[in-house]
Amino acid sequence: MVNDQSHDNQQKLDELKARIEASGVTPDLAAGATQLVFGEGNPDAELLFIGEAPGKNEDLRGEPFVGAAGKFLNEMLASIGLERIDIYITNIVKYRPPNNRDPLPEEKKAFLPYLQEQLEIIKPKIVVTLGRHSGGCFLPELRISQDHGKPKRIRVKRYELRNKSESEQQSGGTMELVILPLYHPAAALYNGGMRETLMEDFMQIPAILEKLKEA
Ligand code: URA
Repeated sequence: MVNDQSHDNQQKLDELKARIEASGVTPDLAAGATQLVFGEGNPDAELLFIGEAPGKNEDLRGEPFVGAAGKFLNEMLASIGLERIDIYITNIVKYRPPNNRDPLPEEKKAFLPYLQEQLEIIKPKIVVTLGRHSGGCFLPELRISQDHGKPKRIRVKRYELRNKSESEQQSGGTMELVILPLYHPAAALYNGGMRETLMEDFMQIPAILEKLKEA
């Protein structure tokens, strides 16, 4: 059901998307990409998933996770009784890197304030990071082979981008997030052990969510 809150959040997200497109963030990536892949799903979601960057299919469609990794993700969502419309999904880097190369540190950094604005609008209970690039943006010490599946409460500095120079962007405020680092579905897709682990971690998501709501 679309309530007032969802409607309001969707409007804010649409405005943020327009602002990113106008911002000139990562101009080289933007020049080589078909379009910005901003993110999609429930603007009021309790679960927000973050991947790395769009691939070829995502670049063409303008939607995140629509290729093989996305199909696997949909199957895992179904295993816990969820569909894509129940969650929100986005990437750190929102333009496709050439030839699907890994996003560069400066590209991730450039998009981080916008990602944070997305999080501030949606206010998810859990931020599920997919893969080490995404997890590493929030947990610099992340060792995915040890830390996967373990939720971590963190406090991050708030960025305030609007009309501010780069040196002014970090305001004194902070925001609290619960990060659940998982393996990336594309990495796990063809690796039996990792695939099992990712599916097991996924199955824990409802219980983690319940526990957070009780707290
Ligand atoms: N891999 C990602 O990290 N993101 C996508 O949107 C698709 C594949």
